[in-house]
Amino acid sequence: MALFKKRRKENNDEIKLENLNIPNHIGIIMDGNGRWAKRRGMPRTYGHKAGVDNLIELSKYANSIGVKYMTVYAFSTENWSRPKDEVSYLMYLLDSTFNRLIDTIEKDNIKMKIVGEKDKLSDQLLDVIKRMEEKTKNCTGMTLFIAFNYGSRQEIVHACKEIVNEGKEISIDEIQNHLYTKDGGDVDLLIRTSGEQRISNFMLWQISYSEIYTADTYWPDFNGDCLNKAILEYNKRDRRFGGLKK
Ligand code: FPP
Repeated sequence: MALFKKRRKENNDEIKLENLNIPNHIGIIMDGNGRWAKRRGMPRTYGHKAGVDNLIELSKYANSIGVKYMTVYAFSTENWSRPKDEVSYLMYLLDSTFNRLIDTIEKDNIKMKIVGEKDKLSDQLLDVIKRMEEKTKNCTGMTLFIAFNYGSRQEIVHACKEIVNEGKEISIDEIQNHLYTKDGGDVDLLIRTSGEQRISNFMLWQISYSEIYTADTYWPDFNGDCLNKAILEYNKRDRRFGGLKK
């Protein structure tokens, strides 16, 4: 009976976070924008626009419940192989979103950082990224790492090259300290939306001991209640980090 009541409570989305352990660092593979749009008879770009709107809302929510770091996969190094129009739209979306938010963003107290290879990005995009990072650098709430033109294998190679250039020996600690997301440390909870169950070259180093949660929900619909469910599930996991059950 008690179990039945508890299940009902979860299904009613009445999840209380007070007694739950909030993950320090959450990674999200924001998948399903295209299918979300298709279901509505709309072009894929419409799904990406809804995806970015959801990202803004969910980031504010995550910050409000005490998440310290959130890394989201917005554009992978492999996404350049998508149709040219879609790639251009994703570039435009980052540019227009940052320009729209830049004057008001500080009140949300979220520190924004773009992580990934910067070489293929336009000067215009690099400029707005720089201004956004500058504007939010003293924010004390959550750090939002937006992985854009990001690939985890590339990130690890980049870290190793830097270590070698600094004349240091490669070690676990050195690699950790040269990752783009070094301040956030390991990812505690990795979420992938839209029912897919792949890692897709996302934070391979940082997810070594992550708990993995997949949701059937398409990214534009993955709201605060969905995040609460993921956190509740995370709290049920027995994290052993290679050790034995306590
Ligand atoms: C995967 O869905 C999503 C992406 C490749 C892009 C994610 C981008 C956003 C959430 C918005 C952009 C964010 C910024 C900050 C510019 P999909 O397109 O592969 O969907 P599908 O699997 O249903 O086709």
